Amino acid sequence: MSTGFCFLLPPTCKSFVALMKLKLHTTAFPPFLLFFAVLLATISLNHAAISSMTYVPMGNNPTLYRPGAEPIMHLDELTFTDTVLGQDHAFLVEFYADWCGHCRAFAPFFREFASLVQSWNRVVTVAAMNCADSFNTRVCRENGVTHFPMIKYYPRAARHASNAITLEASHSGSQLRDQLTRTIVNEFNQFRYPDWPNFIYINVDSSTTYGTLWQGVAESADYLAIIIEQYESVSPQFMLDLSSRSHEIGTRRALASSPITQMLMITQFPYVALFSRDRQRAIYMNPYSANSMTEINNALANIKGNKNKLMLTTTPRTTISTTTQIPTVNCERFPERCRDMYFVSETDMLKAMYMALHDEVIRANDVIQGSNFTHLYNFVDLLAEHFPVLTFSNEIVRRGRNVKRSSSSILKNSERARLVFSHLREFLRTKNDTQLVSTSDWEHHFNSVERVYAFPFPVNSSWQHCKGTTPQFRGYTCGLWTTFHALTVHTYMDTIKEHKVNALKPLKSIQGWVSSFFGCEHCKRHFMHMTTELFPMTARRVRHSHDMMMYLWRAHNIVNNRLHGDVTEDPQFTKMQFPALFLCPTCHSGGHFSRRQIRNFLLRYYGNIKPHNRLARKVLHFY
Ligand SMILES: Cc1cc2nc3c(=O)[nH]c(=O)nc-3n(C[C@H](O)[C@H](O)[C@H](O)COP(=O)(O)OP(=O)(O)OC[C@H]3O[C@@H](n4cnc5c(N)ncnc54)[C@H](O)[C@@H]3O)c2cc1C
Ligand SMILES: *[C@@H]1O[C@H](CO)[C@@H](O)[C@H](O)[C@H]1NC(C)=O
Ligand SMILES: *[C@@H]1O[C@H](CO)[C@@H](O)[C@H](O)[C@H]1NC(C)=O
Ligand SMILES: *[C@@H]1O[C@H](CO)[C@@H](O)[C@H](O)[C@H]1NC(C)=O
Repeated sequence: MSTGFCFLLPPTCKSFVALMKLKLHTTAFPPFLLFFAVLLATISLNHAAISSMTYVPMGNNPTLYRPGAEPIMHLDELTFTDTVLGQDHAFLVEFYADWCGHCRAFAPFFREFASLVQSWNRVVTVAAMNCADSFNTRVCRENGVTHFPMIKYYPRAARHASNAITLEASHSGSQLRDQLTRTIVNEFNQFRYPDWPNFIYINVDSSTTYGTLWQGVAESADYLAIIIEQYESVSPQFMLDLSSRSHEIGTRRALASSPITQMLMITQFPYVALFSRDRQRAIYMNPYSANSMTEINNALANIKGNKNKLMLTTTPRTTISTTTQIPTVNCERFPERCRDMYFVSETDMLKAMYMALHDEVIRANDVIQGSNFTHLYNFVDLLAEHFPVLTFSNEIVRRGRNVKRSSSSILKNSERARLVFSHLREFLRTKNDTQLVSTSDWEHHFNSVERVYAFPFPVNSSWQHCKGTTPQFRGYTCGLWTTFHALTVHTYMDTIKEHKVNALKPLKSIQGWVSSFFGCEHCKRHFMHMTTELFPMTARRVRHSHDMMMYLWRAHNIVNNRLHGDVTEDPQFTKMQFPALFLCPTCHSGGHFSRRQIRNFLLRYYGNIKPHNRLARKVLHFY
């Protein structure tokens, strides 16, 4: 059977044929063949890690999509390369972070998109990967994932991560589909894959026969749908929609200027005509519409007298309901139970800072330089100076005859984390002349300093206050906000006796980190817009030392207001204007916040930090 190709490479071919004969005719297996067989087996073992549509990814974090339940393939560190690169298939991959609110908001659009292009699966597979899962860190870095969500197209010809093309994460299933369509047609124009829809416009001239119209159509296909349009519009989509049925029905396209228009006497565009191989007359002709697919199926069914074909309508729409009712505590009725759910947790802050300085920084670029370097330095400097290491309780403590209203105790993990921050700051100082550090150096240094101080970041503990009602809520971003607030409050407390305090500096350090490293692109844009345009972070607004915590309080409330009712809102922790009545009754007076009371409240709330407990008692269960 392979002799047909032998005119191409005679010597190899001959030996191949000889080999086949040998294999067929010798009973004893020649040793060198055995060697090849073993080699082959080893190779296929090493390359066995390929994702399927029902593959459940490795790792610890929750996924945004349900493996097997929607037309989105899950990828992970094990399967990414073998699945996506070097295959006869294009891939469209969404890189997301499960903690990224914008990714959660984007998920319904991506889902809609995936079902719109589900029938294109012979050409392209839609896939997703969670980059927040530390299991996937390496692959996400190799693929240059700098923000979330990031959409990349891996051409069928892709052999390397750098061959990918970044698409825009539009909030519309059809816009995503249009981008994908254009990208596929571009790839076809370069490589002309014979088993993809033939996107070359039909060129009719005097030598054209009925047979030439069928160019590029599979031999098994008895039908051919031709779409005629005035300029490139809906044709690629139409052809891709039918691509999974190429064994049965081929597709081609023609421009209105083509003689076909006159031959078929078409006056309206776009237009669809269906031909069968054995008849040179169209068996179906109609202007293109949303019903074209159904009409074509009906026409085929009539011809074949086969009603079963009716089943092959357009792409099935799977609607997945994720709105299961989660039991929550009613905070108006049970204010004291809700009050217990609100506390500042050392665990949450340490977990968030690990991600902020480790995961986020090493993901960003190969080198950290220029403004990114300065931003990293300033943020680490702020942490080294003011990351809270003391917690102040407001309980009444009796010591002999003295009654103390407040007592403080040391946060042991944070004390060690502060030393890590100091070391990292010194490390950056040694690079200050070049203002450049490679991310691999940074990661290496981080890991060794972290080890020296006996791993102060409880990466394996669960979120405490920031634990969501279900795993897709809260977590990291909640930990970030909490730390940002605690930093302003503790900077205030640490510097209360100093005369000259630059109140803007801590806020600018936080802003700098957000602008250079926060992986949630959408959050970053909003935050930068807010802090520069909407509610500018300026010396006029932040004059006195306490203004820094008041500024961040208001800024966060602006965000809460914008996100109230958003899909990312945890039903138990709704985006109220903080602090709610149940947290601070005295903060509210006459429908307004009292700034003075707020200030005292913030000092109490962020001063009183619940220590990390290695034996992590189960967090309060609220239902
Ligand atoms: C810089 C930044 C920008 C963000 N931008 C976006 C965005 O554009 N779109 C998006 O979908 N998500 C965004 N997020 C995420 C979003 O703000 C929440 O973090 C996320 O939805 C989780 O909400 P949460 O209920 O855990 O409470 P969070 O809003 O994360 O708050 C954490 C905790 O801080 C305390 N707190 C709340 N409000 C205040 C306040 N005003 N002052 C002091 N303390 C307060 C409460 O104890 C609360 O539980 C952003 C996060 C950050 C850090
Ligand atoms: C800083 O990092 C961002 C990505 O987070 C990158 O786009 C930008 O080019 C970097 N800037 C410099 C000066 O390296
Ligand atoms: C680092 O270098 C810059 C100039 O390159 C200088 O302005 C800055 O003060 C230096 N910072 C430290 C901490 O040495
Ligand atoms: C977290 O768990 C992993 C795997 O179990 C382990 O290798 C790592 O040392 C743990 N880290 C900490 C800080 O406990």
